[in-house]
Amino acid sequence: MADTKVYRASTTAPVNIAVVKYWGKRDAKLNLPTNSSLSVTLAQSDLRTLTTASCSASYTEGDSLLLNGEPSDVSGARTQACFRELRARRAALEAADPSLPKLSSLPLRIVSENNFPTAAGLASSAAGFAALVRAIANLYELPASPSELSLIARQGSGSACRSLFGGYVAWRMGENPDGSDSIADQVAEASHWPEMRALVLVASAAKKGVSSTSGMQQTVATSGLFAERISRVVPQHMEGMERAIRDRDFAAFAEITMRDSNSFHATCADTYPPIFYMNDVSRAAVRAVEQINAAAGRTVAAYTFDAGPNAVIYYLEQDTELVVGTFYHVLGGEVPGWKQAIISGLKPSLSLDEGVAALLKGGISRVIQTGVGEGPIRTEEHLVAEDGTPV
Ligand code: DP6
Repeated sequence: MADTKVYRASTTAPVNIAVVKYWGKRDAKLNLPTNSSLSVTLAQSDLRTLTTASCSASYTEGDSLLLNGEPSDVSGARTQACFRELRARRAALEAADPSLPKLSSLPLRIVSENNFPTAAGLASSAAGFAALVRAIANLYELPASPSELSLIARQGSGSACRSLFGGYVAWRMGENPDGSDSIADQVAEASHWPEMRALVLVASAAKKGVSSTSGMQQTVATSGLFAERISRVVPQHMEGMERAIRDRDFAAFAEITMRDSNSFHATCADTYPPIFYMNDVSRAAVRAVEQINAAAGRTVAAYTFDAGPNAVIYYLEQDTELVVGTFYHVLGGEVPGWKQAIISGLKPSLSLDEGVAALLKGGISRVIQTGVGEGPIRTEEHLVAEDGTPV
């Protein structure tokens, strides 16, 4: 009788938010970037994807993916590239050791779930593809390092290659035409600078107007400013950011983070026709951070924005009262997402301009309080039962 055993393995993977942004592809097929980038991995207790990869000869429908309970298309080039690369590595193991079960030829059933609501407005493709690649690598028992897996996850979504590590992570753009050196590595463990915190201000949970994939292509094709960004601005930011992280220099970390976000959004505005991801509420968050830093007399907070209006504000734990206290008292306790244990007892230490406060109060629908965290974690919590049914 044919082997109908269900093989399975599960992992979690984190979200990451870049402080030096990836924006631009030099090869859209291999997903090779025009510049290096650097991110902070966020804690999985607040934001993570859990994915089970399973395979079995009994899966008659071919490869499938269930995402937050909904069937999702696996025929896209990006998912196919990940499946193909992982299967090729498994097939090589099977060829070298004929006693291994022939998993590479079995259909895959992938089931994936986020622990944060879609209403959080955070793009989950980074955590999603990192979890998918890590889970299949676990299923196939590939002896691949996170950096080797980053080569595969990159082809699913560029930013996903950075979610294979915890802490502070660089994606080196590389120069080989085949992408073999366009790889992620860990700049520092989370424990190197564990005081790093992030406050996400959700200005809109709506799916972004212009997707990053198409937005960055338009920028590369039409922006004159972009050439300056990738040749001069980003290399300086990468160097300065690695130094700031090594020295745990928050003032330097913050300045580069804010300058890089500004530079990225400037190239979006310089795209023709222009792309606007930030809105009035985003700009109020920028002003709020400037006012907090000015009132504190030193840099205690840094803003950054991805391809949407939500603000991510980095700060250090010791400045929670100045940063979180100010936003908490402006937004009010009725906004969902505050962590009671952190906000109880925070005094309104600084005050913001009335116009800025009003825009934030009217425009922020949710907050997420989190911090730097670990990379993917293997788990025995499976989303596919032993008989192959999704649970
Ligand atoms: C603004 O990784 O979503 O968040 O490779 O086309 O899937 P694709 O793009 P994606 O782009 C992320 C862009 C960004 C900056 C960043 O995360 O570095």
